[in-house]
This record gives sequence, structure tokens and C-alpha cells, in this order.
Amino acid sequence: MILIPVFLQAIKASAKMTLPKRYLITSALPYANGLKHVGHLAGAYIPADIYARYQRAQKRDVLFVCGSDEHGTAIPIQATKEGTTPRAIIDKYHAAMKQDFEDLSMSFDIYHRTSEPIHHETAQEFFTYLNDRNELEVKETEQYYDEEAHSFLADRYIKGTCPNCGSDRAFGDQCETCGRTLSPDELINPVSTLSGKAPVKRKTSHWYLPLGKHENFLRKWILEQHRDDWRPTVIGQCKSWIEGGLQSRAVTRDLDWGIRVPLPEGAGKVLYVWFDAPIGYISATKQWALDHQKDWKPYWYEKDTKLVHFIGKDNIVFHCIIFPLMLKLHGNILPENVPANEFLNLEGDKMSTSRNWKLDMRDYINDFVKQENGGTQCVDMLRYYLTQIAPETKDSEFMWKGFQDAVNSELVSIFGNFVNRTWVLMHKLCGGKVPGLHEELLDETDQGLAEDIRNAKTKIEALLEEYKFREALFEVIDLSRKGNQYMQKKEPWILAKSLAEKPELQKKIDTALHMCLQLTANLAILVNPFLPNTAKKMIHLMKVVDKLLDWENAGNLKLLRVGYSLREPQLLFRKIEDTEITAQIEKLKSGLKKMEEPKKAAPPAAGEEEVKKEIPAKPEINFDDFAKIELKVGTIVAAEKVEKADKLLKLSVDLGTETRTIVSGIALHYQPEEIVGRQVTVVTNLAPRKMRGIESNGMILMAEDKAGKLHFIQPGNLVDPGSTVS
Ligand code: MF3
Ligand code: ZN
Repeated sequence: MILIPVFLQAIKASAKMTLPKRYLITSALPYANGLKHVGHLAGAYIPADIYARYQRAQKRDVLFVCGSDEHGTAIPIQATKEGTTPRAIIDKYHAAMKQDFEDLSMSFDIYHRTSEPIHHETAQEFFTYLNDRNELEVKETEQYYDEEAHSFLADRYIKGTCPNCGSDRAFGDQCETCGRTLSPDELINPVSTLSGKAPVKRKTSHWYLPLGKHENFLRKWILEQHRDDWRPTVIGQCKSWIEGGLQSRAVTRDLDWGIRVPLPEGAGKVLYVWFDAPIGYISATKQWALDHQKDWKPYWYEKDTKLVHFIGKDNIVFHCIIFPLMLKLHGNILPENVPANEFLNLEGDKMSTSRNWKLDMRDYINDFVKQENGGTQCVDMLRYYLTQIAPETKDSEFMWKGFQDAVNSELVSIFGNFVNRTWVLMHKLCGGKVPGLHEELLDETDQGLAEDIRNAKTKIEALLEEYKFREALFEVIDLSRKGNQYMQKKEPWILAKSLAEKPELQKKIDTALHMCLQLTANLAILVNPFLPNTAKKMIHLMKVVDKLLDWENAGNLKLLRVGYSLREPQLLFRKIEDTEITAQIEKLKSGLKKMEEPKKAAPPAAGEEEVKKEIPAKPEINFDDFAKIELKVGTIVAAEKVEKADKLLKLSVDLGTETRTIVSGIALHYQPEEIVGRQVTVVTNLAPRKMRGIESNGMILMAEDKAGKLHFIQPGNLVDPGSTVS
């Protein structure tokens, strides 16, 4: 008996292509140097988990690996900060991150760690393999060395001024202010973070991966073969790397924390963390295979494996250019796709660990999941919101109000409401059992709903295969919205009022609720990759086994047997109260770390005015008044303390056509050596003024924040000194 006309799915051309035999899914290995925040979760973990759960529901051979990245300078730096050993740091944060991922229902098949011997062996073997085949170059270069600390300086151990944005907090590998990738040589005024001294150059040899030699391969593979199936943002970054000229990259470092270079001439050196970490995906696979008596090799060597790396955008070059090249030279398969996400901001500002402007997974777990009214529904609420705002094509915003809206007006009011109405009515009007379907009563509305269900499956499937998780989730919610509309049209509760006169209406009621129940079963399947705990709860309500969630069941309208009795209604989601939201925003703001408190000001020296406490509003001026002020951008080229005046610095400022001496009251906020190279805004037509015997020819503009800290007013990009400001 055909229930409803069979809907013929258009067979997509791609469906004809042979399916991969196995799926190897990876999430970026997080550094074990601290707790991870929801930005990380949204970037590299939740999307991967959705994809893995979906492919598993398709009964495909899936291996989903992750683990802690336990090398690199981030670890010893954190150890110094916490006054402990690198080992203690990785043990602490590995355990913490593993727990957090578990608490948020991440379904890794293995969560490994790169400090394991199996990983050290695997990474060393990889290095040896490449080196034996002359795929690496050895080069002698000069590198920064700290004579006081007797050590070469890893990029992260060098600080200085960013050549791009002028921030004085740039590191030798990256400027965290503007995000630009740097090399230590580009830093203006480099300083060792070990001793605070300027480092010197010393000769050292390292092994390099010659990217330039493989430009043709990379161009072809990325820019031609994957031009259309990789995200435009990913292709864009790769393109600019390739066009910018591919330099050889050192794969070893002078450090003592890491994996030893397996060669006698490599004594005292370790593998660069970005060489060993991605190999962690392979060692995790090996460990998983050992644990489950499986063969790991097909996952990394067979062409019918589909390898997909889920990462954040700061990891693109490593996963799209460097690691794939390593894999190719090592005889492995290459990733099919690298769906990198952009960044997630929080309440209008960049998430930042140093400023404590972030929402750690751990905090969410404690404040919601572990609360009395929490539990796994809160896990799914977060997963829902983070997927709904996933930064797939551009940076996006986590707003607490947005979280509340998403939960209350979508999860609760649409999805949860549909399921709840269905359950309540089915108990009230159909005796708590799956009511029968009366074919002769089926009308256009029923046909429409059946079609919507099948269409939703097709659409969601296609979107998931294309890594469009946001849109896919939207389709799930949209289907539940259609359920509500269906219910609104059928109005079984109205029909019920006339049952006494017209008992035949029971058939109509039964049919409508039968449809709603079948839709609920379908929703459970479709929502499962995104909100696994919700799907479980729905399974429980329906008293069916997990197998119902197999993806192949989606689109089927006979999932629940007529006459089968179902459980009592139970809400899927609770509401998020206003008070919870304000409390979170409060917490965020009060936790915001003020940038280093200025040192206690010494009593003002004679002749120096005390800083005024209150700044009264100034009277209005007209344009001519304003136009009298000449403002220019200058670059600080030298700075020194002014004797016997702890607030003053004597600056030499390059204004393009001249270099001026300006005395500025910023000595309590900035060290002279850290501001050389900075661009600043200068009032250039202020009458000269003598301070401490030095003639000051101009004034540097500064912004004072609430904490009393002064900040330079600098252009967003480097401009020529002498550029006018108006
Ligand atoms: N630990 C790195 C980060 O947090 C990511 C490493 S990904 C891997 O940015 F592939 F190298 F493992
Ligand atoms: Zn910068």
C-alpha cells in the first residue's frame, strides 16, 4: 500500500560518483596551555562533530580524531607564568580540555596527546623519511640569541613593534593586535622576553621544507583542483601565500621542549611544533587502531579515504599548504577539504585571553550545564547557538542576548513547542498512543507536509556534505516551523470540541496527530547531528531504539507504529531568563582585565601639574577654531627618560620633512624602548614649551581609558610620517 505518492528525489550527479570508503575527520589539536573558549568550539570542534555524527548516521566508516597539542613555546611560556613545569602544564590542561569536550558532547573516537611516545616516534619517522629522501634542506642562518639567558630565542620569545600596525606588543611570529604573521626579523626594536635585553644574532643550522620547489603542485592542487569546492576564504588565503612567493620553512627549532631531531647533528634541537602537531592526527589514528584492533594504514594511505580537516582561519596555511605538502612527500593521501571558519567575536569585541574577554567552555559548563536547571539541554542550546552563528563565511558575534533569543524564540518556541504540542494533544485526544492514519482524509496540507519532510532531508544532506552547517540547521528548524503551521491549519483541539455531535471527527484528529508524530520522528533524525542530546530525549519520548536515528530513515513517514504507546510529555528545552543574561554580561565586563595597571604615580615634581580628576565638557567651538590646529602623523624614532622627572619621556619624532623633539608625560605608561617605531598623532603647531630644561616642539595625542592608562592615537595602517590628520 502506498501511503502517499512517492516523491522522487532528483539524483544529483555527485551521488553517482563512488562514495569514499572511509571518512577521516580531524579537529585542530588545541594547545594544552590553557582552557579553550567558545570561539574555538564554534571554529574547529562543533562543525566537525556535526559532520562526524552525520556521516556515522549514514552508516559510513568514520574516524574522528583530535587531541592536545603539547609542544611549542606556548607550553614553557605558560609554565613560567604559572611557576611550574611544562609537564605539569600539559597534564593539567590536557585533562581539562578533554573533560570540557566530553561535557559538551564532542564525539571524538579518540582524544590523544602529542606527548605520547607513539607520537614522538611517528613524528621522528616522518622527519627521517623526508630527510633520507632529500626532501629537506639544511641551512645555516643567523638567529636571535639571548646572551644573558644563553639561549636562542624562539619567535614567541621575542617582542617588539609591529611593522604593520605599530603595536608594541607584537611577537616574533605574529602580531596579536592586527593578526599579521611575522618573522622576528621584521620586528622593530626586538627585545628578548627572557632577559628584557636586545638579542644578538648568532649562527645556527636548521632543516627546512622547501615550499618554493613545490609551487607547481600546490598551485594546481589548490588553486585549480579545489578552486570550486573549498571555501573562498580558504582559497583566498592560499592564493595570497602562493602569489606572495613560497619561502622555505624551518621545521626544526633551537629549543628544549619538543620532539628531538632524530639525527646526531640535530642535538639540542627539536621539531618545530607545526611540523609535529598535524602528524598528531596520524599518531592518534595509530593509537585508536591499536585500541580497537584495527588497521590504521588505510586511513592515511588509501585513495578512497576522505580526509577533512576542521580548523580556525589562523591554521589555514598549515593545513592547506605545509601539512599537505608533507603528506604528499611522505606518500600519504591529501585532505579533500579544509572547511576553516573565521573568528567569533564576543559582545562586540575580539575574544582575547590576555584581556580575559572570552567565554571559556568551562565557564559555560559551570554556569549552565552543571546547574540544577541545566544538564544536556544546555549543551544543546550552546551547540545550537554556535551553529546558528557559525563564522563560516565571515567573522561573527556571540551576543548573550542573541543566545537567549535563539534559545527562547527558536528552540523553545518553534522546535520544542511543536514536539510538546504534539505530545500533549496526542495524550489528550488519542489516549497516549500513535493514532491511525486515514488515507481517505489526506488532503493538500498533508501532502504538502510529507513533501516538506522529504525535501528537508534532501536539502540538509546536501548542505551537510558541503559543510554549510548554519543553513542545514536552519532547514531543521524550518521543518519544525512547518509542523507548527500544519498543526495550526488542522487545529485538532478545535475539532475535539465538536466530537460529541460529530464522532467521525476523531478520524481527522487521529490523522493530523499521526502526521505530527511521524514528523517528530523525522525531526529527531535530522536534528541528531547538531543536537544529539535532544535527539536522545526524543527517542526516549517515542520509546524507540537508537537505530531509528539512522539517516536512511529520514523521509520515511511510517517510523512510528500505529497503536504504540508513547511516554508522557516532557519539555525539550527550558527558557533562558533575562537575569541569566545580565549576570553573564556583568561577569564578562567585571572580569575584563585592565591592560597592565600603571605603576603608582610618584608625587608630582615641582612645576608639573597634577592630573585633573574630572574633565568638564568643553564649550562648543566652530570649524575655524578647529582648523587652527595642525595635526600630523609622526613616527617615534628615539625615546629616553628625562632625568629627575618620572613622568616624562624625551621623544624624537620623525615628521617626514623634519625630526622634532617632543617631551611627553607618558613615562609611567611606556618604556622608552617599547615605543620606538610607533606611529603617533602630533599637534605640530603648538607653541614650544620648555620642560625640565628641554624644549618641547609639539604634543603627542593620547587617549586615557577608565583605568587611567594612556594609549597612542595611531592610524589603522602605517602611513608616511608627516601625513596630515584632519
Ligand atoms: N595548536 C594549534 C592551535 O591551537 C593547532 C594545531 S592543529 C594541528 O592553533 F594540526 F597542528 F594539530
Ligand atoms: Zn600589528
